[in-house]
Amino acid sequence: MFSLKTENEGDKALSVASAEPIIKIQGLHFHYNPESEHPIHALQGIDLDIYPGDYLVIVGHNGSGKSTLAKNINVLLRPTEGDVWVKGMNTRELTNTLAIRSAVGMVFQIPDNQIVATIVEEDVAFGPENLGVPRDELQERVEWALGVVDMLDHRHRPPHRLSAGQKQRVAIAGVMAMKPEILVLDESTSMLDPEGRRDVLAAVRKLNEEGMTVIAITHFMHEAAEGNRVIVMEAGKIVMEGTPRQVFAHVEELRALQLDVPQTTELAYRLNQRDSTFPPDLLLVDDVVAEIQRRVNGRSRA
Ligand SMILES: Nc1ncnc2c1ncn2[C@@H]1O[C@H](COP(=O)(O)OP(=O)(O)OP(=O)(O)O)[C@@H](O)[C@H]1O
Ligand SMILES: [Mg+2]
Repeated sequence: MFSLKTENEGDKALSVASAEPIIKIQGLHFHYNPESEHPIHALQGIDLDIYPGDYLVIVGHNGSGKSTLAKNINVLLRPTEGDVWVKGMNTRELTNTLAIRSAVGMVFQIPDNQIVATIVEEDVAFGPENLGVPRDELQERVEWALGVVDMLDHRHRPPHRLSAGQKQRVAIAGVMAMKPEILVLDESTSMLDPEGRRDVLAAVRKLNEEGMTVIAITHFMHEAAEGNRVIVMEAGKIVMEGTPRQVFAHVEELRALQLDVPQTTELAYRLNQRDSTFPPDLLLVDDVVAEIQRRVNGRSRA
């Protein structure tokens, strides 16, 4: 693995790294069907610290172990070898399960499987109600969560009448209403249209800005720019890690792992190949535009 951690981290990455990890993963191996003739070694020695307020994006080819890693964080699975601690609680201890599950909210890919009630607000209330949140606070939380995902106007509607994007926002509101300290999104935007995806990302960004730790698994490389850290997985291992700019500067290595890079990075990379003074690691459209503009202006003044 080549780690990109030490170079020029952004302010946010530095400030969060000074705290104690909220999730600590050490020597984690996971086998599916361990007793069978052909056990599947889905995680092969993961070491990872995640800090409070991190927005960690996990990318990797199909089957690289991303979902298995996420499930080991909220105790849907337990390590075959190694340890996972959430807020200091080891996931191997059965007595920690409930406390860990209330600290870690998880949103999956398909919203339909996550919606349980026939009215939007009842669905959002379901999780916190099960956690024993009192009535008046419950009402407050439901309104807050629906407000964050911009679905308050739909509170009295039956979920099956909503679009896929709206359903996914309701599913996210349901998890948020439980006020987890850590939000795990496993390809939660993959079923959505671009607008739905933007809405969900904006809601998640807002929560992260308010201090929630976010772990987002995605196939959309440009979504990785949302995070302060990115890890790249391959065959059950972490093969790259760093800030989005650091990771996506490694265009050739990512391609070798059959991963795309964001279009902006691709453009910056090609411009850098033509003119090595052009920065190859620009990630945001605005940054690429500004760099090109700066050069055009410089040339016209010369
Ligand atoms: N329930 C299961 N039983 C047996 N093998 C499984 C199970 N779930 C996943 N696997 C295998 O474990 C490995 C890791 O799978 P995982 O779902 O964690 O990958 P992923 O990176 O999330 O993939 P994707 O991008 O397709 O969601 C793969 O080889 C997969 O086939
Ligand atoms: Mg998966």
